[in-house]
Amino acid sequence: MDKLTAVVLAAGEGKRMRSRQPKVLHPLCGRPLIAYPLRAARTLADRVVLVVGPNADAVVELAGPDVRSVVQRERLGSGHAVLQARPECVEGTILVLPGDMPLLSVETIERLVAHHRKSRAAATVLTAVVPEPQGYGRVLRQGGRVKRIVEHRDATDAEKKTAEINTSVYCFAAGRLWPALGKIRPDNDQGEYYLTDVIGVLSRAGARVDAVVTLDPGEAVGVNDRKQLAAVAAVQRRRILDRLMDEGVTILDPASTYIEDTVTVGPDTTIHPQVVIEGQSVIGGECVVGVGCHLSSCRVGDRVTLLPYCVLRESVIEDAATLGPFCHLRPLSHVGSRAKVGNFVELKKSRIGRGSKVPHLSYVGDATVGEDVNVGAGTITCNYDGVAKHETKIEDRAFIGTNTSLVAPLTVGEGAYIGAGSTITKDVPPGALAVGRAPQVVKEGWAARKTKKREEHRG
Ligand code: UD1
Ligand code: CA
Repeated sequence: MDKLTAVVLAAGEGKRMRSRQPKVLHPLCGRPLIAYPLRAARTLADRVVLVVGPNADAVVELAGPDVRSVVQRERLGSGHAVLQARPECVEGTILVLPGDMPLLSVETIERLVAHHRKSRAAATVLTAVVPEPQGYGRVLRQGGRVKRIVEHRDATDAEKKTAEINTSVYCFAAGRLWPALGKIRPDNDQGEYYLTDVIGVLSRAGARVDAVVTLDPGEAVGVNDRKQLAAVAAVQRRRILDRLMDEGVTILDPASTYIEDTVTVGPDTTIHPQVVIEGQSVIGGECVVGVGCHLSSCRVGDRVTLLPYCVLRESVIEDAATLGPFCHLRPLSHVGSRAKVGNFVELKKSRIGRGSKVPHLSYVGDATVGEDVNVGAGTITCNYDGVAKHETKIEDRAFIGTNTSLVAPLTVGEGAYIGAGSTITKDVPPGALAVGRAPQVVKEGWAARKTKKREEHRG
């Protein structure tokens, strides 16, 4: 079989996005738009060529070293964009993919390629029959054969009634494409070299031009503005949830659940409403993710319970731990198996050992907490002296009384006890009791004497 080269078009300005950022870098469910066609291109083609605009280093970098990037210095239209890829694909079959149609499935594109190869057509265009063809190029046929494509803005009223649109995905025989591209002229409303005109050129020359119609016209939605981005995101979001449900995840309220494409979730995990899971998060099996939890790039083991409203970022939570409600894990935190991190607890860059508990109202930062430690309510690690951060170490089985301030740098030894309400500034040896607070004063009968004094004063 001849070589298949995918040419992904990403040099358009994306004017309608009204953004400083290139359109193809706008995120869609956790991946930039361009990642979707690149993924399809990599899956199907022998090589991938990406056409980018000037100053698009970020796009080139994102594509990775296995993708050949070519720059379209002046944005003279989609036909001119494809022309820039010519030195990279002189022969074989050329698959053109737009950078802004992320819902296109690999299966659909594969169907196009298979048809094209079988029919040996000069060009095969992927079309869709849609209820609202507004804005898209219309596919004009004669006796069933594709004759040409006319852009919405150049179409007559009669042509605008055509419901079959051009998706901007095409297969071309290289030997037919390049000569035809040389013939197109920018004589249209935008003064651009339209790739769509190649279809007319080939068909007029008597070449075979075929069309493959998408089975799901929903795949053919392009992202040109932010409203379309939102519409496409809604579809993509639902696809991700459907995939997870197929893989055995219970999602109680798909309408209010946002899980990015980059996330994996194990079977028998239950996701409650209003949950957001983003980035490179990996959630194990048999977990419960409570109402309103927000996880970014976290690794969560199996059988973990996240009670409602936990905010967790770039942290690791091991098997059977329980978190929340209302806890906040800042980056580089690590919660050991069976550990408990409770209400209104903030962790930052800290490790909580296996079976340890930080159940209420605490701040633990830059700390290493051993196994089976109990950290009492209201414990604060004073890790910052106004200049630098310092570390706190709490060894296995230590017991920190409630409302304790641990002034770092500090080590509380194995099995040591801290009396409630202490401010601890010095290391506590293993097995010791440390109490750092003013001793309690008790004055018997003080209240009665005070009342008496007051009455005398009023006298
Ligand atoms: C294009 C098609 C239209 C089709 C629609 C489907 C043309 C002329 N029209 O219209 O028939 O129905 O897609 O979504 O092709 N690009 C460049 N360089 C340029 C101009 C465009 O690389 O100078 C790239 C864009 O990044 C994009 C693709 O070509 O990936 C299509 O361009 P766009 O401006 O989005 O065309 P549409 O108006 O959507
Ligand atoms: Ca477009």
